[in-house]
Amino acid sequence: MTNPSVDRRSVLKGVAVASAAFALPRAFDPAAAAAPASKGIFGYGVASGDPTGDSVIIWTRATPPQRHKGDPVATPGSGLGASIPVRWQVARDPRFTRVVAHGLVHTSPDRDHTVKVDVQDLDPYTRYYYRFQSLGEFSETGRTQTAGDIPGETHALRLALVSCSNYTGGYFTAYRALAQRDDLDFVLHVGDYIYEYGNGADRYGPASLAGVRDSQPPTETIDLTGYRLRHALHKADPDLQAAHRQHAWITIFDDHEVANNAWAGGAGNHQASEGDYLVRRAQAMQAYLEWMPFRLPDQSQSTPHRGTRFFRRFTFGDLGDLSIVETRQNRSLQVTVPGVPFDGFVPVGLNPAIDGAIAHPGRHLPEPEQLTWIKDGLTGRRRWHLLGNQVMVTPVLYPGAALGAPGLTFVNADQWDGYTADRTNLLTHAAAQPSADSGDVVVLTGDIHASFVGDLPVAASPGNPTYTSAGVEFVCPSVTSDGFVEVLAGTKDLLGKPPEVVVGATRQAIGAAQQLNPWLRYIDGVSHGFVVLDVTPERVHADYHHTPAPTSAQPDPRTVPTVVPTYTRSFQTLAGSRRATAASGPVGPRSDRPRGD
Ligand SMILES: [Fe+2]
Repeated sequence: MTNPSVDRRSVLKGVAVASAAFALPRAFDPAAAAAPASKGIFGYGVASGDPTGDSVIIWTRATPPQRHKGDPVATPGSGLGASIPVRWQVARDPRFTRVVAHGLVHTSPDRDHTVKVDVQDLDPYTRYYYRFQSLGEFSETGRTQTAGDIPGETHALRLALVSCSNYTGGYFTAYRALAQRDDLDFVLHVGDYIYEYGNGADRYGPASLAGVRDSQPPTETIDLTGYRLRHALHKADPDLQAAHRQHAWITIFDDHEVANNAWAGGAGNHQASEGDYLVRRAQAMQAYLEWMPFRLPDQSQSTPHRGTRFFRRFTFGDLGDLSIVETRQNRSLQVTVPGVPFDGFVPVGLNPAIDGAIAHPGRHLPEPEQLTWIKDGLTGRRRWHLLGNQVMVTPVLYPGAALGAPGLTFVNADQWDGYTADRTNLLTHAAAQPSADSGDVVVLTGDIHASFVGDLPVAASPGNPTYTSAGVEFVCPSVTSDGFVEVLAGTKDLLGKPPEVVVGATRQAIGAAQQLNPWLRYIDGVSHGFVVLDVTPERVHADYHHTPAPTSAQPDPRTVPTVVPTYTRSFQTLAGSRRATAASGPVGPRSDRPRGD
């Protein structure tokens, strides 16, 4: 079944081709990605991440100064520049009068002059300050925090959940809002930190930002040079720099850190003309590991895995743990409709071959070894088991009317909905664990560029409100990537219609979806932003922060640099309930503060 209205990329490409301004990639603009390399050694800022009870990663990029005037600048991806010594310091205070750790490292073009130090022997639940120094020049000071992971003690846990930060999609004001908060333990980014698209016909995002916020490199990233420069573009953004400077981050990639709709052997947006996919993926992962404050787990650990082990677990005393799931490296090829370009949506209950493939036990999302590791993590005696996850676990049945195919029902086969044997395996196991002994599961997800709150039914049937729930899922909206409202605005029936009409149509479609999916408590597809999660022994509370809906006066709030997401509404799950409910909010002050704060 051909349905161009559901093909986000086709829609976008169609719009782009229609605009002469997009006909050719724009000339390289050195103003963004490469400019910080000329603004001193530490122009790309500082970052920290992967906090445990006694360690944290600190990160920077150290651009070597030109030896002689006129020498080329060692810009990201250039491979230029000499090795450079970098000293680092971690202190209990921002004036660095109480330094607790320091050292000297060297960086070189081999790692794109990035610096990553795994600082050890720190105290748990403590705030620290860090900085770098090289050739007489200091970086900005970053702030970070170790995890409240002390056996027998329960400390507050508060984090922000973000995903899908398309540079050409809008200003990163969600990151600005996070940078202004003082109450977060860390920021959790569950994927699509970068996108691979260029500025030509494949440009992704509002046309009004062409020439204002462009991709660098200007063409699709397909090799190490390209991915390094794309990461550098993000690290040059002032709002993103501020959010990294202020908080530790925990991150995991999704598909766009390599290419759209990635699976084990390829990606929807990888063509044979772009070379060997596995070579491309390895180069994308190299750039990711260079430019992100990410700690690879000890590869010598006995936990079985396939390929590079990216999945890992953080612990927070008796309160809970956070398992970071990785679902791209080993996943089976997505189920598609023969002859139809895949963009996630496939009809269900129509074609037995499609239904059979979706449910086939031989197809996997995480590899079986990782799924066993995830399940094992749900049996511990901690109150909450958070899963940092890329694509939605909760079933979502899409009414065909909203997709231009009345009478049919669709699922997004790029999500766990396309790998139902794995999902049933996971949720059956989770539901079988007694809450009083093993705690409850809370899945934290992004990817779909819309806000969702829902239960996790072990077996769901359309419109049936009776089910066993294995836990709950909170899904954050995108930082800037196109949501349902932007996708619908590009469809045939709504093209050129006033924003109020498109918003109304989006909300009508969402209302129909909620009828089909009574386990979903909330869907919002018109706003961008982030979620703040507050975890106590009694409940997990989620505050949704959103940009306003588009209006004729302000057709695309993402393009307005002063529009920052604000608090809209809250949901929660009470311990033992395994259900999501509305909550009054937002959360107040933390119940306790980390040391050194
Ligand atoms: Fe995304």
